[in-house]
Amino acid sequence: MKLPFGIEKLDDVLGGGLDKDTINLVIGRSGAGKTILASHWAAEGARNGENVVYLATTMGRKSCESYLGKMKFMEGVFDRIHWRFVRIDAKFLLPLTPEKLEESVVATIKTQPRDVDRIVVDSVTDMDKALGDPVLYRLALRYLSRLFQKNDVTALFVEEAPYMQEWSETKNLAESVILLDILRVPDGYARALRILKKYRTAHPLDYIPFEITDQGIEIRDGKFVRRNYEFEYRA
Ligand SMILES: Nc1ncnc2c1ncn2[C@@H]1O[C@H](COP(=O)(O)OP(=O)(O)OP(=O)(O)O)[C@@H](O)[C@H]1O
Ligand SMILES: [Mg+2]
Repeated sequence: MKLPFGIEKLDDVLGGGLDKDTINLVIGRSGAGKTILASHWAAEGARNGENVVYLATTMGRKSCESYLGKMKFMEGVFDRIHWRFVRIDAKFLLPLTPEKLEESVVATIKTQPRDVDRIVVDSVTDMDKALGDPVLYRLALRYLSRLFQKNDVTALFVEEAPYMQEWSETKNLAESVILLDILRVPDGYARALRILKKYRTAHPLDYIPFEITDQGIEIRDGKFVRRNYEFEYRA
C-alpha cells in the first residue's frame, strides 16, 4: 500500500507514494523546500481521512498557520492535521533508552502511536543538535524508527543536509530518500529533486525540476543533466 504526496508527477515516479509502515527521509539544505514537501504529504493523508501528526521543531503555531496554512494544498485540511510544536531539549531524550524516547514521543504527540497513520518529524536535525553527539543521535533515530515500525506508523523524517561535513546516517535507516536541491544552472539557480533511493521501486535517478508557488510544490517536465561528465564508459 502506498501513501501518496498528492503531487501527481512525484507520486508517479515514486511508484504511487511512500510505502506503508516504512521510515522515509526528505533531506536538503535550508530553504530547499523540505517543510513544504513534507506538509504536502501530511495534507494528503488528512485528505484521505488518515490520522496525521506533524511534529514541528523549528516553527511555531503562528508562523505555521500564516505560512503553510495559506498554501493551496492545505485548503480544508490544515485543521485536520495534528500539529505539534515542540522545542527539543536533551532532557526529553536523556538518559537515552527506547522507553524514555517512547514516553517523550507519546507526551508530545498526545496520542497513542498505534492510532497514528502518518507522522512527519520536521526536523530530526534538531534532535541531533540537542544531543550533540553522533552516536547518541544514531541511537535516538533507531529507537524512534523502531517505535514507529512497531506501531505501523509511516514516518517521514526531515533532515537538514550539512554544507561541509559528511551526511548523517539517517539515510541508512530510511527506505526512501528524497534529496531537495538548488542547482547552479547557466543563468542562475534552479530547484530540483532527486530520489536517492526507494526500496522495491524502479525510479528515475535524474534531477527533476520543481518550483514552489502559493500552490505548493509543482513538478516541472524534463530533467537536469550534468554538462561535464565525471565518468565515461569505455569498452
Ligand atoms: N508562497 C511562496 N511562493 C513562492 N515560493 C515560496 C513560497 N513560500 C515559500 N517559498 C519558497 O520556499 C522556501 C522555503 O521552503 P521550506 O520552508 O519548505 O524550506 P525548508 O527546506 O524546510 O527550509 P528550512 O531548512 O529553513 O526549514 C522559501 O525560502 C522560498 O524560497
Ligand atoms: Mg523547514
